[in-house]
Amino acid sequence: MKNQIKLLDKEFVLFIEEDRIQNRIIQIADQINNDYKDKIPTFLIVLKGALLFAADLLKRIKVRCKVEVISAKSYGNEMESSGTVKLKHLESNFKNKDLIIIEDVIDTGLTMKTLLDDINKYEPNSIEVAAILTKPNAIKTNVKIKYVGFEIDNLFVVGYGLDYAEFGRELPDIYVLKV
Ligand code: IMP
Ligand code: MG
Repeated sequence: MKNQIKLLDKEFVLFIEEDRIQNRIIQIADQINNDYKDKIPTFLIVLKGALLFAADLLKRIKVRCKVEVISAKSYGNEMESSGTVKLKHLESNFKNKDLIIIEDVIDTGLTMKTLLDDINKYEPNSIEVAAILTKPNAIKTNVKIKYVGFEIDNLFVVGYGLDYAEFGRELPDIYVLKV
């Protein structure tokens, strides 16, 4: 892995290494396997940011489960939440399902709040959220995140699914904007 990378006009430095991410995911998967041992959860992957986290997490799930996807977009190409959230292709029926939403990062929480309000209309049996990152100092809504990979400061990060202007998603490690 590289210690420093450049994406377009911005430089980023290594922040959370692949090994640490993978070890944390093993712990989260164990927790989910235990919490859902008598249930059949439906994992709802929030595209595109949660792709890598979802793939790594799902490989470690031992309970019978289903997988759905939804796309949510709030950032545009900026480095701050736009304040409006666009949801796409929510055609599935979630009635009576035990949902686990897989998200990349909870920043202001606005995206997750919008998503939860929308999905609740389908009357699922339960909804929990798994996010590889949360930014407790940036949160502006009261959403409960049950499965958290890492709590980080109010920093802009890329890699492991997270992008800067659509670049950097493929990186196996997480990088932070250089100041
Ligand atoms: P929120 O609605 O403010 O919680 O923002 C959530 C969405 O913004 C996430 O799903 C990400 O797509 C994006 N986002 C938030 N923080 C970052 C970051 O540090 N890097 C890249 N994308 C981010
Ligand atoms: Mg996202």
